[in-house]
Amino acid sequence: MKKKTGWRSVQWFGRQDIYGFIYRSWTKNRGVPQDQFDGRPVIGICNTWSELTPCNTHFRVLADHVRHGVLEAGGFPLEFPVMSLGETLLRPTAMLYRNLASMDVEESIRANPLDGVVLLAGCDKTTPATLMGAASVDLPTILVSGGPMLSGKYRGTDIGSGTNVWSMSEDLRAGKISLEEFHEAESCMHRSHGHCMVMGTASTMASMAEALGVGMPGNAAFPAVDARRNVIARMAGRQIVSLVKQKIPLSKILTKQAFENAIRTLSAIGGSTNAVIHLIALAGRIGVKLDLDDFHRLGEGMSTILNLMPSGKYLMEDFCYAGGLPVVLRELGENNLLHKNALTVNGQTMWENVKDAKCWNRDVITPYKKPFKKNTGLTVLRGNLAPNGAIIKPSAATPKLLKHKGRAVVFENIEDFHGRIDDPNLDIDEKCIMVLKNCGPKGYPGMAEVGNMPLPPKLLKKGVTDMVRVSDARMSGTAYGTVVLHVSPEATAGGVLALVQNGDVIELDVAKGKLQLLVPEKELSRRKKSWKKPKPPLPRGYWRLYFDHVQQADKGADLDFLVGKSGSFVPRDNH
Ligand code: FES
Repeated sequence: MKKKTGWRSVQWFGRQDIYGFIYRSWTKNRGVPQDQFDGRPVIGICNTWSELTPCNTHFRVLADHVRHGVLEAGGFPLEFPVMSLGETLLRPTAMLYRNLASMDVEESIRANPLDGVVLLAGCDKTTPATLMGAASVDLPTILVSGGPMLSGKYRGTDIGSGTNVWSMSEDLRAGKISLEEFHEAESCMHRSHGHCMVMGTASTMASMAEALGVGMPGNAAFPAVDARRNVIARMAGRQIVSLVKQKIPLSKILTKQAFENAIRTLSAIGGSTNAVIHLIALAGRIGVKLDLDDFHRLGEGMSTILNLMPSGKYLMEDFCYAGGLPVVLRELGENNLLHKNALTVNGQTMWENVKDAKCWNRDVITPYKKPFKKNTGLTVLRGNLAPNGAIIKPSAATPKLLKHKGRAVVFENIEDFHGRIDDPNLDIDEKCIMVLKNCGPKGYPGMAEVGNMPLPPKLLKKGVTDMVRVSDARMSGTAYGTVVLHVSPEATAGGVLALVQNGDVIELDVAKGKLQLLVPEKELSRRKKSWKKPKPPLPRGYWRLYFDHVQQADKGADLDFLVGKSGSFVPRDNH
């Protein structure tokens, strides 16, 4: 080791004693020459590749492009795997494991001789999990998203991940399409590498990474199979070496201003409600104060300028060809809705990155002054049914249902819902409000994306397309409807939601931010006395740890003991 750099890796590879021998010798076993240990920055490539995560199966190629970039800039790349979370296969829900994966990322980074990290993430939870873990260590960090799939194409029309799954499965249940057509659509929907190609949670979180400044410009929209996606990976590999040399840790990027940019971007793109939970959890790790009121304050009066499914009609591929997120950020900047001086990982300010971005299709990205939809910021609801808050995405809702009073039809849990929803004798009409309990962070467990309960077939057959739904669950970013989500405290934690009974009247008034159970306080107290605290669904292992420590949705559903960062200290030798 010749150079004196002060970087972490020197405490492994820079030693000229028995420990240095051990650290270097074993690392040389794949053909690493001596000169790689001369004090150059050691860069971790944190890979969420897994065949169990279909959206991330191209990540070995992506990692190779990062590796090339690191080498070109004179760094020493070391790739490592972490727990991967696939939205489609994991049960009961990938969200249960987001915090566990973040612990894997945090400890893998801290325990190893790394000076900077490139995170490779794609499917929904892999982005927040890797960012949260990295934030708790706070090394220089860049996130590279895997990119969305190409547009789904089915019988001459575009179909989007998830969004069309909901409508097609409802069509199948209503007898409007055959099983053969259903199977054919499966093959047409997901026809390339990448993550869901609607503005669902994965694309939202890739956009959040770019808006936060932790992703390179263009990170959100280039399709997974577009050569420019690989260029982003390669440039990230070069740039992370520079960030290490300049000593720019993640906390210099993830500032309050960066989060405010992300929240406004979330409204402008009509992004997934899941981002609320993930951004709050990420802010908690890096030490930025962020809560639901910030979303309400910054979302108020905001408009959506992106005409993408599930709120609109286009797909991520169209978004890319229209100019991608830099155009959205430029529109925000020109309307005084962007902190222009926020630093980004390519070393430039946000405004330097986006000020010259050009839009090539105004039907996909509208001007901010002529938005695709007005007043679409996420609305935070409060009232006796959600004292700590609940949220609704008005841009995905039916306008006339945004002020509504209705009779509650209550499902005690998801099994109760599945068991009764198809019953032709279910006492329900389109004015009712569907209520689902015990699907929050503790309840499911893991806060599954079941808040957009499918409507009863008997009402679907009548042509009903939307109803007010209320739950402590989340909703897939690809879903839509007048759906109140993240009710906090959840039913399993003893929230008022646990006390709702069939026939109670619920009042929703989105304009006033109100969600009220119209039942006298005295009656609620009476019901509370007979409520029994649920037991953990599994009394051991990670499920138990999670059940005992997970916070409520309004706090980001992180584990209480993971909030904050421990930093990048070098643990003692293991010899
Ligand atoms: Fe992975 Fe949708 S299933 S992003």
